[in-house]
Amino acid sequence: MGDSKVRTNTNANGNIIFIKVTFLFLVLSTFFKVSNGNLECPIDTPLSCSNKTVISDSCCFEYPGGIFLQTQFWDYQLEGDKAGPSNKFTLHGLWPDNCDGSYEQFCDSSLNINYKLDEMLGNNSNFHVPDVLPDLTITGPELLEKMSVYWKSNTGDDSSLWKHEYNKHGTCIKTMNPKCYGRWWEDSQSLSNSIKNTANDKGGLLKNRAVYDYFRISVELFEKLDTYKFLMEGGITPSIDKTYTRDEISSALKKHFQGHNVFFKCDSYGALNEIWYYHLINRGSVLSQDFTPIDSFRTYSNCPISKIYYYPKGYKRHNPTPPGKGRSSVGVIRIGGPNGDGSNGFVIRNGHWMTKGTPANFEVFKSTYGNYYIKSRSGYCKIVKNKDQEHLLCGGGNNVGSATQFELEEKHGYIGYGGKFDWYSNDYPRNSKQSVIYPGSGGKYTFKLKFTKTH
Ligand SMILES: *[C@@H]1O[C@H](CO)[C@@H](O)[C@H](O)[C@H]1NC(C)=O
Ligand SMILES: *[C@@H]1O[C@H](CO)[C@@H](O)[C@H](O)[C@H]1NC(C)=O
Repeated sequence: MGDSKVRTNTNANGNIIFIKVTFLFLVLSTFFKVSNGNLECPIDTPLSCSNKTVISDSCCFEYPGGIFLQTQFWDYQLEGDKAGPSNKFTLHGLWPDNCDGSYEQFCDSSLNINYKLDEMLGNNSNFHVPDVLPDLTITGPELLEKMSVYWKSNTGDDSSLWKHEYNKHGTCIKTMNPKCYGRWWEDSQSLSNSIKNTANDKGGLLKNRAVYDYFRISVELFEKLDTYKFLMEGGITPSIDKTYTRDEISSALKKHFQGHNVFFKCDSYGALNEIWYYHLINRGSVLSQDFTPIDSFRTYSNCPISKIYYYPKGYKRHNPTPPGKGRSSVGVIRIGGPNGDGSNGFVIRNGHWMTKGTPANFEVFKSTYGNYYIKSRSGYCKIVKNKDQEHLLCGGGNNVGSATQFELEEKHGYIGYGGKFDWYSNDYPRNSKQSVIYPGSGGKYTFKLKFTKTH
């Protein structure tokens, strides 16, 4: 349909008529597509991560983050309002993952929410102009009300979790970049110039609209994935002493996810506490909300095979803090060679690799919403980008606001970044030499970073 823009008619009169008809059609189809939230994307766009050739229109093809995870919590240990309704899982976020299972984070600080989100969403005029932008399917205040019921932070400060989710994950969704929203104006030639000028987005209208859409789409997808109900229909209900098997939980969820595996996690008591639903996106833009279920990329669940607890909300285990939670550890980071024995040196406090001298001490601790911060005496560690090449750097004025969130594989102490646990370097550091460490594999020396607690 979008191809009707191609005008090949050579007859002068006919051309005018043709253009007029095309123009009318374009205006109508623009609005038709817009009301579908589909902008101007070709109807035959392949599923994300499934294209055979390059699709360079980043507003119409989600890349590299073409996998969408809808993640949910079962925070049974929280009390009262913090835990959310007793018969609902709560929403954690909507995360774009790369096609290979790794992921990007904090992609564009110019889009960050650094204002009062409740105030912005509380007034529709901040992201909507009637008859100019597509109608709202739900008003800002209605959306906020749903979010405050279902989108709960374990700290009790829900809106700080919401902001974190948008800044960390929402800014990585390319098809929801405000610049894509400018297309609503580009093609709507009938709109007055004054309105088109708004396309410069001085008031942040489009930026706000993208924020509204991220939260709206997250909530709407969450509402379709009613985990509590899925489990209940499989005979799985919260209980203080009853336990369930991995297979029972897996098949109850699968049944409602078009036969695809759903990933679930347990806490250190072996109690169910998190669910991840994986999707690809169809019809180009996330705005189409055409999510297609796929099997979870994680095949290993940390839940016990047979004795999984599913505690009712408000239930308190005897020991109120699960082991290891909220505490930081101090230790050293060794370079694990092919045999992972750490004989090849260590990380020094600026984040470089050395083989001679003494390893630096690093503090590794959980960030509020999952993942880990790593800090040396020089400051927080961060993955910085230099001429498209990312590398590890600790200190150098990195504060917590710009610190990278790393992963920690607890069993071996391996440190990961963006879902990958390989690191590499091109030079072996002899004597007093330091070498730069890059995330991923592909250089001359590929290794693991292994964190070992010293106290
Ligand atoms: C799919 O599209 C992306 C984005 O344009 C591109 O980078 C990637 O190489 C494409 N995949 C194939 C197999 O062509
Ligand atoms: C909503 O925002 C608009 C413009 O941003 C402002 O003019 C209006 O007064 C606000 N309404 C309320 C009720 O705050």
